[in-house]
Amino acid sequence: MIGKKILRFNNIESTNTFIRNNINKLDHGDMVVAKTQSKGKGRLGNTWLSEEGNLYFSFLLKEDLRRSEIFSIIMKCSVSIIEILNKYNVEAEIKYPNDIVVKKQKISGILIESIGYNDINNLIVGIGININQNTFKNISIVATSIYKETKKITNLDTLLNDFIEKYNSYIDINDLYKKYIDKSVIIGENVAFNNANYKVKTILKNGNILLINKENIERNVTYGNISLKEYYHKK
Ligand code: BTN
Repeated sequence: MIGKKILRFNNIESTNTFIRNNINKLDHGDMVVAKTQSKGKGRLGNTWLSEEGNLYFSFLLKEDLRRSEIFSIIMKCSVSIIEILNKYNVEAEIKYPNDIVVKKQKISGILIESIGYNDINNLIVGIGININQNTFKNISIVATSIYKETKKITNLDTLLNDFIEKYNSYIDINDLYKKYIDKSVIIGENVAFNNANYKVKTILKNGNILLINKENIERNVTYGNISLKEYYHKK
């Protein structure tokens, strides 16, 4: 269960950083939400610009997980976000591993930080969803928001509650996996692996991807070993 306790801030450095700095005082499932972040973090060391009007939140999972099980958390978050956006009339897809996109424009991102290496006992899951922002300056890719897609202002608390409810409702990993695959845009795409061309055949349940080349040779690779040709529209 996540979201039983929610700590709210007007401005904070980063909701992920707050959890990391207070990990011993927080319990499994505790959530931190901020209206703005002064040092929002994105994946791969990027900055997540965090102006008012969007959702920025993180939650703590204090459970023993293998590194390979992290993908089930990614699936849970991605599918929850997709299904909620659907409720707000936004049709979104997943760009593996954990970007949520609308017609190749990013609408949400997930940053998972683990504490521990092989066996992980603390996971910080941070999510940013673009909700009421209309223009995106200072980022290199074209981004979108619920507002840009629908021209409607969305209540942030309602959407956060929707997320918590959805996330807590998933129990069947096979069902989740099916939904994740169904919404994944990377399947069938051309990718480079070891300087050779492959197509993505599918994404496996542990988060690895299965590639296939023209000679029908398959490769089971982890994320980071492949590069997807330019995906986002650049500004
Ligand atoms: C990405 O690069 O796609 C991941 C972005 C994650 C942003 C969220 S906003 C709330 C949480 N706090 C952070 O500093 N980052 C995550």
